Amino acid sequence: MSQLATAIDLSSELQRVDSAVLKRFESRSILLNAASRYLLSSGGKRMRASLALLAARLLGEPDAERALNIATAIEMIHAASLVHDDLIDTADVRRGRPTVHSKWGGNVALMVGDYLFALAAEQMAEASDPRIIKTLARGVVRICEAELSPVTDVVPLQRTLEQYFAKIGGKTAALFECAAESGMMVGGGNDREVEALRQFGYEIGLAFQIVDDILDFTADEQTLGKPAGHDLQEGTITLPVIYAVEMGASEVVREAAQTFEPSPELVAAAVAEVRRICATKRAFADAERLVANAVKRLAIFPDSAAKDALIELAELVLRRKM
Ligand code: IPE
Ligand code: IPE
Ligand code: MG
Ligand code: MG
Repeated sequence: MSQLATAIDLSSELQRVDSAVLKRFESRSILLNAASRYLLSSGGKRMRASLALLAARLLGEPDAERALNIATAIEMIHAASLVHDDLIDTADVRRGRPTVHSKWGGNVALMVGDYLFALAAEQMAEASDPRIIKTLARGVVRICEAELSPVTDVVPLQRTLEQYFAKIGGKTAALFECAAESGMMVGGGNDREVEALRQFGYEIGLAFQIVDDILDFTADEQTLGKPAGHDLQEGTITLPVIYAVEMGASEVVREAAQTFEPSPELVAAAVAEVRRICATKRAFADAERLVANAVKRLAIFPDSAAKDALIELAELVLRRKM
């Protein structure tokens, strides 16, 4: 993984995760195998797998096979959610390459997503720990619910913020939460320790999505490996937009957020206004607060390389450029 160089070198474990994922692609359907391999070999930061592997090590050396097993299942759930998310968002580029639905069509994307979810379930079953299976299954339920939950308008602020945080809490933070929590379960944590990691994962997951929503305004497709300026185009109301309106942005921002299929000109004007008013800085301050809170959750654990690496991972969530 290109961006994560932590106190612990995870590269060989992440390679084993990738091999374990690829090994599962042995369907009778050539198409399912080809499209799944295509996505998995296109890159990706393996952030959630890294989180699970590090959480598992926080109390000492865990059972390596079990840690690898959950990291693999989580990375497959993530991949499945990306395929379905790109279909919903009509996004054409992912990890620098055409998305599964734009290459093979919507029906294939639906089935590839389902296939990956089912393979993740098989992988989870090997964990033979009902607590972990339940945690991950619940994470998938939350992703499904949140992908369809709307943020209806940019005002009133309180309701909008509640809707926004509920949405990102489910669609993104839930899987970070599951990764950290199930990692700690494998690592043998007691209830208090598992709960601390659950909260750590949830908070960095929220920060991760806030940063993703900021990058949609500030980065370019080349760096991101996926479309920029796409959220408003799709009618997705995110934190920079909410704050821009609250900070007195011109009407163009609310208009873009409220218009069905806004013109590229309207979107470009709204993006420029969100940037001009520095709403992304205010959103970033929220992400920083969440990461700082998350890091405090680790105070109950003894100092270790794994703890340092988890702190680095939390900070990388803020620093990432892709
Ligand atoms: C993308 O996640 C989906 C979001 C939750 C924003 P990542 O940015 O972790 O995607 P990859 O795996 O590195 O491609
Ligand atoms: C969705 O958030 C995250 C997932 C559950 C996959 P986004 O729609 O912002 O993710 P990107 O920007 O397409 O990666
Ligand atoms: Mg998307
Ligand atoms: Mg996004």
